[in-house]
Amino acid sequence: MTVTIVGSQLGDEGKGALVDLWGGAADVVARYQGGDNAGHTVVEGGDEYKLSLVPSGAVRGKVGVLGNGCVVNPRTLFEEIDTLRDRGLDPDVRVAERAHVIMPYHRRLDGIEEEAKSDSGVEVGTTGRGIGPTYEDKAGRRGVRVGDLLDTNVLRDRLEYVVPQKRALIEEVYGLAAGDECDVESLVEEYAAFGRRLREEGMTVNCSDFLYERRQAGDAVMFEGAQGTLIDIDHGSYPYVTSSNPTAGGAATGTGVGPTVTGRGEVVGIVKAYLSRVGEGPMPTELDGDEREERLADRIREKGGEFGTVTGRPRRIGWLDVPMLRHAARVSGFTGIAVNHVDVLADLDTVKLAAAYELDGDVIETIPATTEQWARCDPVLKEFEPWPAVDWTTVAEEGYDAMPTNAREYLDYVSGEVGAPVYAVGVGPDRAETIELVDPFEQ
Ligand code: GDP
Ligand code: IMO
Ligand code: MG
Repeated sequence: MTVTIVGSQLGDEGKGALVDLWGGAADVVARYQGGDNAGHTVVEGGDEYKLSLVPSGAVRGKVGVLGNGCVVNPRTLFEEIDTLRDRGLDPDVRVAERAHVIMPYHRRLDGIEEEAKSDSGVEVGTTGRGIGPTYEDKAGRRGVRVGDLLDTNVLRDRLEYVVPQKRALIEEVYGLAAGDECDVESLVEEYAAFGRRLREEGMTVNCSDFLYERRQAGDAVMFEGAQGTLIDIDHGSYPYVTSSNPTAGGAATGTGVGPTVTGRGEVVGIVKAYLSRVGEGPMPTELDGDEREERLADRIREKGGEFGTVTGRPRRIGWLDVPMLRHAARVSGFTGIAVNHVDVLADLDTVKLAAAYELDGDVIETIPATTEQWARCDPVLKEFEPWPAVDWTTVAEEGYDAMPTNAREYLDYVSGEVGAPVYAVGVGPDRAETIELVDPFEQ
């Protein structure tokens, strides 16, 4: 049995909280794409964990896997593992030998390329973690894979080929000085040492075989998506996207299980009850039209703690966008949804969402395929009666029927439009503040 957790919007929908909730029934939690651009939060009994690479199941002692579709920065990985150990956890993390390694020159180039793009106002607003340049090298067949770190000769061969190209790019194309990130000897030394630690701690796996064997032994597997549908390289608002496939198809290619395996399981879309976006790109429901909207955005931002987990940047805020959710549900085939942050919208004068868009005089129900068209879409707003702030902990204890009626109306509408039942509702960050209607592992 598998459960795939997918971000339905622009990332930061609260995926970590649901992976933590339902991960209790999983034996293995596998990330299938992305790298340390992710920032997943788990709050258990008031203790907060912010995880960039270690799968969120680690907080519950599950085996965490970084699949072949991930890009892994070993510096971040070991820092995160060591920090968790200092906090008394003992994360069991396995890394696919086919996963690609984020090297220091990737991070450097991420920054340089963003800076160059900003001269023409076309920067993406990346997290600066080297994600794009690493996936570029993967597609360009000049990447370094985790398996290469285990053999110093192979590692040296790869770096001797690729590093002079990076140096030329930095020096000759961008006219900057290359630094330690382009020093083959020190890279070999540092990254071979990472390889030794990976081997000593028994962390590397052939991901496809590993998951096959675990499933044969009867283990339940959860796939933890990072980022979200609208920043998917194929299905998102290109070029304002990340460089991987957060949508459900990525779970199969990014770990080496068949689509029949994930397809026979559950695929749960994680939805934030409003929208947040870090980085550039269109956002038709953004609350930035006038001072009143900006004040409302500030209020939601403060109440929802909408500041990037990875970069600390204030997140842009907007109303929920139903055309976006219809698109997400189709691309990933949601069997259910979880709606978070319902508490954050409490006590407003009114609650709105985009039920459709208007584009060039036509009303449309999903997102147009070009980002330029999407940017021209006007939301067709639908208003809902507001709901009061209540004691959410008590509501979480008592269950869905204890939710304010107006909040239930909002959720029922969204579920009907998306065509997927509500499996859970988040009314606060803590594990105990999530109302579970359906456990996908029991489906
Ligand atoms: P992820 O990247 O999808 O895992 O989400 P993040 O962790 O980046 O951002 C979600 C933030 O909202 C975190 O600080 C969570 O602790 C918090 N959070 C998650 N669910 C809820 C909820 O239902 N209500 C509130 N108020 N906060 C939530
Ligand atoms: P989680 O898993 C929100 C955004 C960046 C930028 C774009 C490309 O926590 O939901 P990248 O560094 O990936 O090349 O940046 O994608 N982005 C995220 N936004 N949540 C995330 O992850 C994100 N990961 C990347 O802000 O706009
Ligand atoms: Mg996040």
